[in-house]
Amino acid sequence: MTRSATKSSPVELETKSRVDDLISRMTLREKIGQMTQFAGQGGIPNNLRESIKKGLVGSILNQVGVDTLNEIQRIAVDESRLGIPIIIGRDVIHGFQTMMPIPLGQAASWNPKVVEKGAEVAAAEAARYGVHWTFAPMVDITRDPRWGRIAESLGEDPFLASRVGEAMVKGFQGKDLSQPDRIAACAKHFAGYGYSEAGRDYAYVNISENELRNIVFPPFKACLDAGAATFMTAFSDLNGVPATGNEFLTKRVLRDEWKFDGFVVSDWDSVIQLITHGFSENEKEAAREAVQAWVDMEMASRTYLQNIESLVKEERIPMENIDRAVRAILSVKEKLGLFERPYTNPELFPVNGNEKYMDVAKEAAIQSCVLLKNDYQTLPLNRDKIKSLAVIGPLADDGFEQMGTWTFDGVEEWCQTPLQAIREKAGDEFEIHVAKGVDTTRSKDKHGFAEAIDAARKADTVVMFMGEEAILSGEAHCRADIDLPGVQNELLREISKLGKSTILVVMAGRPLTLDQTRHYVNSMMYAWHPGTMGGPAIADLLFGDATPSGKLPVSFPKMVGQIPIYYNQRNSGKPASHDSFTHIDHIPSRATQTSVGNTAFHMDAGFEPLYPFGFGLSYAHFEYYNLRQSKDSFTKKETIEIQVDVHNPSRYQGAEVVQLYVRDVAGNITRPVKELKGFKRVNLDPGETKNVSFKIKPRDLSFYDRNNKLIIEPGLFYFWVGGNSNAELGGKFHLIENLDQNQNNA
Ligand code: BGC
Repeated sequence: MTRSATKSSPVELETKSRVDDLISRMTLREKIGQMTQFAGQGGIPNNLRESIKKGLVGSILNQVGVDTLNEIQRIAVDESRLGIPIIIGRDVIHGFQTMMPIPLGQAASWNPKVVEKGAEVAAAEAARYGVHWTFAPMVDITRDPRWGRIAESLGEDPFLASRVGEAMVKGFQGKDLSQPDRIAACAKHFAGYGYSEAGRDYAYVNISENELRNIVFPPFKACLDAGAATFMTAFSDLNGVPATGNEFLTKRVLRDEWKFDGFVVSDWDSVIQLITHGFSENEKEAAREAVQAWVDMEMASRTYLQNIESLVKEERIPMENIDRAVRAILSVKEKLGLFERPYTNPELFPVNGNEKYMDVAKEAAIQSCVLLKNDYQTLPLNRDKIKSLAVIGPLADDGFEQMGTWTFDGVEEWCQTPLQAIREKAGDEFEIHVAKGVDTTRSKDKHGFAEAIDAARKADTVVMFMGEEAILSGEAHCRADIDLPGVQNELLREISKLGKSTILVVMAGRPLTLDQTRHYVNSMMYAWHPGTMGGPAIADLLFGDATPSGKLPVSFPKMVGQIPIYYNQRNSGKPASHDSFTHIDHIPSRATQTSVGNTAFHMDAGFEPLYPFGFGLSYAHFEYYNLRQSKDSFTKKETIEIQVDVHNPSRYQGAEVVQLYVRDVAGNITRPVKELKGFKRVNLDPGETKNVSFKIKPRDLSFYDRNNKLIIEPGLFYFWVGGNSNAELGGKFHLIENLDQNQNNA
């Protein structure tokens, strides 16, 4: 199966690199071919075969089937003039056939190692099927749970998204991209897509350069530093210049400043959409704008193939730019080892969905679940005490739905559902009463209520599986009302009237507004869409064979009107506090207007989210004490160390994600009230205490100032250490210019 595909003589290759050699021999049309990505058409129709033979296809996306893909490569390698292999792309977003939790769920694990392993499995499974390149990770920061693609995101925070995003890149690509079980990653969507107005997909975004640099860009930069081979542009119109024709983004920042040497692909049809945006008058201008912005490869639409030749001849696109783009594309193909190994041979790989891969998926699902409420320690369930359990809800036994969005290749039959896993745990020990209650999460039909209430009545404990079907999140699936859809809340209310101990497991692709829901249940666990092994993971957590340890990667609003609500907000001149907040119900009628003492809050929702960023309970309990710091002041050349002891006084083994937040008290621009600067996951046995240490370097405190320059600014900083973004245990330190200043401070 292994063969050399480049038709150059060894002598030539000695003097020129393969890529330079190819570029020197390519016609302009062949170069444009490399810059063109065809959408898979199912099979190999004649037009595709002919285009490949002519060297007009650099890449294909969403074409599947080992035989088809190997045949496509054979045509490229054997029948095109230069024999350049094709790079096959696919949306391997959170698994290929074995599905990990959705990316937002993976971010809730706050465990880059688990995330990396998941991406490693996804890469091996996809590579086995002839895929070379995934369009992941998506590292768009978002503060809007209405946006369907929040499911695909890594949450609201640049630091967490950076750590999780880079872990995905490492998992996909490994240390050596040419290994057969690795695939190229793609950091997307550069940039600003997650700020789509009102959470409506594809809508306009308005983000200042400063916000881009301080909040939106960092996860992209982290992916680049982790070696991401490619970037994808965004569909969005960013401040009037759509991202696919935005020189500032893909040339100035990505290439000139960050020195990215991989290639940039447009999003699906996003070049031709430059016309729809009202940015380019016609396809030729759209192609010119995109190439000028250094967008190297066009996905799906064909404006490059049809227009670049004449644009070059008219000297409206410099030839050097084309050569640069082609060099970047060919270099990625070379790094992938495609010239040596254009074909896939599945027999050389472990089979997909093997036990090891399933274990990775299960561990990822366990660590991504977030326990939001656990009154009276309803969880974990005690197998010895339960006589009968009711398992109710539309998502208790639906493998397809638990996989979540972007699961083109996910195998439904491999999915183990919560009901199956609970049955396995129950054996003959306790009875299980099952009812769906409603057919789908959206259904408004209440015919199933009676059966569900009956099942609940017969049981001593009720576990409800509710949330959103997979199709209610993801691309172009945004919602304005993000409560539990359909009549699920009504069903919960009816069941709560029975007074049984009730647990709700939510599967969803976004934070839902749970302000009403939470009152109907004793315990609430957020499982996102947990993937193939969601069932066994949830069952282990319910029965205490595992302890929940996930933490929210995004704030959960009480109601839609609070959006955007995020922890790293600016303070305002009138920050709200519990003392200043007045609920609408407490304002006397005919009250006269006053602004004295008034602060930034909603009269009906307060100023806090329902659950803050970083929040998540455990069966164990963690105490923080003995906070200490190595210095009170440190210079720009030094490091400060912050340590804390974390103790688990409970009888459960558990893992705590210890989080470090910092506030820069005054800056050249106003700074967020808190910023996550570090986190560590620690396992603690019952009674165990561990010392957790964070080192802060001055560079960690840097930010882009009002002139968009990266600065490290001396001054006073507060810090907090704890289990969520409301952590109260903290202290302060000074960053100083030099030691003299230290004495002045003392
Ligand atoms: C999405 C991308 C995706 C591409 C290819 C687009 O609609 O925005 O994220 O990679 O399709 O499927």
